[in-house]
Parts: sequence; C-alpha cells; structure tokens
Amino acid sequence: MAKIYTVEWTPAILAHPALQIGMAANWWGIVGEKLTKMLGRISKSSDIISGILGSGAEHDGAPYSLTEEFVSVYRMHSLVPDNIAFFSASSGKHIKTIPVPDSTFDKAQPPLHENPFTLPDAFYSFGIKHPGAITHNNYPSFLRNLPTPDGQTRDLGTVDILRDRERGVPRYCAFRRHLRMSVPKTFEDLTGGDAALAGELREAYGEDGLERVDALVGSHAEPVIPGFGFSKTAFRVFILMASRRLKADRFIGGHGEWSEGTYTKVGFWWVQNSGMKDVLGRHFPELGALLERNGGRNVFAPWVKMEESDKYRGVETNAPA
Ligand code: HEM
Repeated sequence: MAKIYTVEWTPAILAHPALQIGMAANWWGIVGEKLTKMLGRISKSSDIISGILGSGAEHDGAPYSLTEEFVSVYRMHSLVPDNIAFFSASSGKHIKTIPVPDSTFDKAQPPLHENPFTLPDAFYSFGIKHPGAITHNNYPSFLRNLPTPDGQTRDLGTVDILRDRERGVPRYCAFRRHLRMSVPKTFEDLTGGDAALAGELREAYGEDGLERVDALVGSHAEPVIPGFGFSKTAFRVFILMASRRLKADRFIGGHGEWSEGTYTKVGFWWVQNSGMKDVLGRHFPELGALLERNGGRNVFAPWVKMEESDKYRGVETNAPA
C-alpha cells in the first residue's frame, strides 16, 4: 500500500509568501488588486507595475502551447489516494469508503447515484480531504497495476517516466541547467543529504548515473522548501506557465479585450469578484454555510471538518496523526 503523507498540500503552497506574492503579482502587479480595481490600470503596458490583466496579449514568438516540461511536472499521480472516504455534507457522518479504481473511468458515475449520497456530499468529502504528498516512494498501489478502457493494463509509475523519455524531456540535471538552476554534484547533493534515498538512486542509475536521473525522479527526490508542496524544479516551470497562460490569452491579457466591452459591465464584475467559494455557495447553500467555517481560508485548501467527520480514522483521509 502506498505511503500516505499528511501534507496540507494546497494550503501550504497557497500560504507560502513567495507564491502568494507571485500569484498576486501575476494578476495585479505591484499596485495590487484593491487599487487597480478602484482606479483601473495605472501603467498601460507594464506587467510589473499593473499585472498581466489587460497589459497586452503576447505570445513571445511561439504559438501558445503547453510544453512537455509542463506535462512532466504535472504528473502528480502521488496526489491520488488508493481509497476515498465519503461523508455527509449535512451531518458530517462517514457514509462509505471506496477504492479509487471503483470510481474511475466507466465506474465514475455509479457511486454518485447511490442513496443517500448527494453531490454536496461529494464536494464536502473532497473538500476535507488531504492529498498524498508529491514525493518519492509515495505512488498509489492501484496506479501501478491500472486497467484502462483501451484494454491495456499499465504500471503508470513506469509510464510516467517512459513518456518523458520518449518525448525528449531532458533528464533532471539537464532540465535544471535549462532553467538556469544549480545542478547536484553527487546523489547525496540531490537528496539533500538523505543517504538511504541517495543509495537507492545510485543502485537504480549506477555509480556514474547522476546525469541519467529522470526529471520526475530527481524532482521527487530533491528536498522540498518548507511550506512548499512540491519541488523547486517543478515550481519554476509552474510559475512560468502561470504567467504564460494569462499573457497569451487575449481575453485576459488583451488591452482592449479585458474590459466591460467584452464581458459586459456585470460580466466584468463577475469575472473579477466571483470565486470558487461563491460558485459552491450559490449552487449548494448548505456548502456555503459550511465554507463560512473556513474563515478567510482559500477554498482550495482542505476545509474545516465537521465533528462527526473528525471521528473517522480511516487512513485514506490522510488525517494528520
Ligand atoms: C484516478 C486518478 C487518475 C488516473 C486513473 C490517471 C490515469 C492516467 C493515465 C492512464 C494516463 C496516460 C498514461 C499514458 O501516457 O499512457 C495519465 C496521464 C497523465 N496524468 Fe493522470 N491519472 C489520474 C490522476 C491524475 C492527477 C490527479 C494528475 C495531476 C494533478 C494527473 C496528471 C497526468 C498527466 C500530466 C498525464 C500526462 C498527460 C499527457 O501525456 O499529455 N493524473 N493519467
């Protein structure tokens, strides 16, 4: 069975000052959200001063695409648990626990149709769940022997590495050089001094195999900065793509398009002020009330549990020990 970590992945990441500043700066620049909403863009074209929204769309010489490096760092299969526990959104009581393979592909819908299980129950259950940590030795068991609708059975852990290789994603050291990042000189350097892990890597790749370590493997083996949910190597690619996605989208980055003219007055207010918490609360008032318990916490962070849910001790909840 895959090791389940008790990482508060989303809040940890969202709470990190570097990322918070980074994300806010992406959108609103140094001037910030409040002032920009009051006065409009202070700088017409500077992303740094007034953020990417309405700064002028730009493709930087390459048609918009998601790079293979982005696909590679997004291979976050360790997030997925082997089992998932479902709870009532009204009482908080545990309803049932099902193995994830019994809720995927052609089996995705049946669990949602079984009484007394409702869609708000599903949202609440996923809301309070802590995902698996994106790290070494933490791959869910079922994904290592996964029958897919195309009739094949995959060891997805192997496939993740194989696909990167066949698509030409550089190995870990080369990957980091391309990102202008430092490169480890030894396996111990790579693992931040974890001798046991360095030994496993040496055994897999050979004494002289440091340069052969795959991007994903290295990125799962490097020490994670406190408060971060994944490696700095992956983070570098994420932060680049986050800006790229906004900047290349003319309906977000475009001078004229990011406006009431495109969205209408109401629509422009809506896209700037309505978030996931509002959407959930609007469609499911019972969830809106639940989310109030979270205070100002980001709705993508694990929600505060009801007392009844807290009583459940299944390992698949990733409940902090
Ligand atoms: C029940 C959960 C999941 C299942 C059953 C699943 C299954 C798969 C399968 C079968 C593939 C294709 C493998 C191949 O190339 O042959 C794949 C690819 C991939 N998965 Fe998952 N996955 C799951 C969850 C996730 C999650 C949570 C993430 C990320 C947050 C993720 C990210 C990816 C990425 C980035 C690829 C590569 C896509 C590409 O090649 O363009 N998957 N997954």
